[in-house]
Amino acid sequence: MPAPSALVLGGSGGIGAAVSRRLADEHAVAIGYHRDRERAEALRTELAEAGATVETVQADAATEDGVLASFDAAQKLGELSVVVNCVGGWDYPKIAELTAVDIDASLALNLRSALLVLRESARRVADGGRVVMLSSAAADVAPARQSTYAAAKAGLEAASRVAAKELAGRGVTVNVIRPGATDTPYFRNVTSPRAIEAMAAANAMRRLGTPEDIAGAVMLLCADDAAWVTGAVLDATGGLR
Ligand SMILES: NC(=O)c1ccc[n+]([C@@H]2O[C@H](COP(=O)([O-])OP(=O)(O)OC[C@H]3O[C@@H](n4cnc5c(N)ncnc54)[C@H](OP(=O)(O)O)[C@@H]3O)[C@@H](O)[C@H]2O)c1
Repeated sequence: MPAPSALVLGGSGGIGAAVSRRLADEHAVAIGYHRDRERAEALRTELAEAGATVETVQADAATEDGVLASFDAAQKLGELSVVVNCVGGWDYPKIAELTAVDIDASLALNLRSALLVLRESARRVADGGRVVMLSSAAADVAPARQSTYAAAKAGLEAASRVAAKELAGRGVTVNVIRPGATDTPYFRNVTSPRAIEAMAAANAMRRLGTPEDIAGAVMLLCADDAAWVTGAVLDATGGLR
């Protein structure tokens, strides 16, 4: 029997790659990427050499066609049992300086993509499957200079909870992970050293999260034992609150 398949959108990114590595132990994995083909292909090679079945799919998850293509790629690998959405991004605009273009871009990347992923999950994830959506502590903390990102991730959380209700009849769970500051190349690119230091000191464990910390939380929600957990929003922040 072929292995069940998993789709990780943003699956070669900082957090996404850690999730893809974990899922590849028991699933054939479709890894969605957008711009960084080299990084996605390097991960595919790494996992294939370790014996996993892996495909990459280039797609813009903010578009209908991109999300359809991502799910098509995963379904080609086997029965789709897990979807993890790691697509997202942010910068730090002051609210007084926002433009309509910035707002639309952030909502498309962080929220429209999430709604399209939830819709396709409703249509295509097999009975008893798992959907995990990556939010951010920003949705809860509402930090300065994260207006569009916090709003989009709060929307992602609400939509995921709605999807949890609609998909429950088929035993499909839909849950949200809310990472705190996590040490990825993207995070380091957009965040100043001073802000990084402050964020690392802000949680109870007094350090940044690692991609593996977040992947571990995702795996909890993908476990068979999590079948009764749906519509949950799980903080993975090292104790930020
Ligand atoms: N790092 C943190 O501190 C942190 C904290 C809270 C929440 N998060 C959330 O965790 C997730 C991963 O973050 P990360 O730090 O690992 O950043 P990352 O490495 O930049 O990951 C983002 C991923 O999304 C993909 N992506 C970007 N735009 C896309 C688009 N239009 N269509 C399809 N894929 C697209 C990227 O692919 P390409 O690189 O190939 O373009 C990349 O794989 C995001 O949802 C982020 O909001 C991160």
